[in-house]
Amino acid sequence: MTDAVGKAPDRLWGGGYAEATHPLVQKLNASVGYDQALAYDDIVGSIAHATMLRDQGILPAADHAAIVAGLRTVWADIQAGRFGWSVAREDVHMNIEAALRDRIGEPAGRLHTARSRNDQVAVDERLWLRRTLAQMAGYIARLASVLAETARAHAHWPMPGYTHLQRAQPVTVGHLLLAHAEAQLRDAGRVLDCLERLNVSPLGSGALAGTTLPIDRDKTASLLGFSGTTRNSLDAVADRDHLVEAMAAAALGAVHLSRIGEELCLFASAEFGFVRLPDAFTTGSSLMPQKKNPDMAELLRGKSGRVIGDLVTLLVALKGLPLAYNKDMQEDKEPLFDALQTWGDCLQVTADMLAAAQWQKKALLAALDKGFLLATDLADELVRAAMPFRTAHEKVAALVAELVAQNTTFGKLGAARVAEKLGVDKAVVAGAIDVRKALRRRDMAGAPHPGRVSREAAAMAKRAAKVSARAHAWLAPCAAERVLAGELGG
Ligand code: ARG
Repeated sequence: MTDAVGKAPDRLWGGGYAEATHPLVQKLNASVGYDQALAYDDIVGSIAHATMLRDQGILPAADHAAIVAGLRTVWADIQAGRFGWSVAREDVHMNIEAALRDRIGEPAGRLHTARSRNDQVAVDERLWLRRTLAQMAGYIARLASVLAETARAHAHWPMPGYTHLQRAQPVTVGHLLLAHAEAQLRDAGRVLDCLERLNVSPLGSGALAGTTLPIDRDKTASLLGFSGTTRNSLDAVADRDHLVEAMAAAALGAVHLSRIGEELCLFASAEFGFVRLPDAFTTGSSLMPQKKNPDMAELLRGKSGRVIGDLVTLLVALKGLPLAYNKDMQEDKEPLFDALQTWGDCLQVTADMLAAAQWQKKALLAALDKGFLLATDLADELVRAAMPFRTAHEKVAALVAELVAQNTTFGKLGAARVAEKLGVDKAVVAGAIDVRKALRRRDMAGAPHPGRVSREAAAMAKRAAKVSARAHAWLAPCAAERVLAGELGG
């Protein structure tokens, strides 16, 4: 990247300017260091715009052909990493237009007819988000399918369930994994909703008030695969709601991954020993030879902070802005790119880590022995024998206190003694203090009954496949992309 002070001829708005700008103005103003990530979408948008201009008789066919051919060479150079990005040319839009002018001369000057950078950046961001959110939905679908598959394999593996991080009642490993999968599918729903809403074309809104030239907004929209056009030119160039929605989905998604990360950190510790994380996702200590630290699980927690920060950065940038475009809005891009990049990386690492994690049956069963996880089930038995629940609760609580003092458990004491102390039938107690039986008795929708967990795992696999198909559909290239790829003529 060159960082020479912008000379008037380099600036596409330089007509009325005699002097070069102050170097710091240029440094602060320039966004090309990061908005070059929009290059593909910018070129696709320009191809659609030029094609519409030609069809409307605003742009001669020969100039259109030169523009499309020139944009193809620009994109080839960008892809190959040999495009000379220039800070003096400020942003991605002006870099590409100026490069086009360098290559094809005068016809390049007709591309920006009936367009402003304000509607241009708005369309670029929608196209970028559409591709990127479709990818996110695909990553979520993959994670949900890994969770479904692992849940199916562990549907019958009892483990302690926790409230307040204290042992509470038995669940199964499969049930826990499917709980996380539910959150993932809600995240996917938010992403797919956002995709529907953002898929309209702002092109034609101009700087803020449309254009006097006879453009066809529907034509550009359809070349870009949009389902329609925005309905108010001021709103179209001032609106960044879709970025906020996407980043809010990313922030919540990152929080969901953070909660998975925290459980993995806990469960992989020697204190729990419930799961072994594959070496590929851990690192050693430079000092302590025995260490295998769950860095990736920790970073799922750590990264969520920056994604939340990205969302807040954008909301704060927008909150005081009058309509329509203001330069503050250029600050939307770094947090947007960071949030979605980070979320995408975390989704992929979570899926791969969970696919390779090994759950430890022995440690899980041992943990079930302590903690009186079946105390509620015993109270339920007393209820079945017509005792009011509050009385049953008190009775079982007193028994638990007694056993804690004696450092023993329901299991060690045995069904007969427990039954005697509670004044109920031995058979009743035997049914209530066996973990596997206790799980099978939770036979209702949403509960950890192992057979139900198996069926829910199968249903989750299908739901994840549906998300994957919908994500995939959003990735189909639009007509303007196919022109760029040379699959369609201009
Ligand atoms: N780089 C600018 C941005 O992202 C493009 C729009 C500039 N528009 C303008 N009127 N200066 O916000």
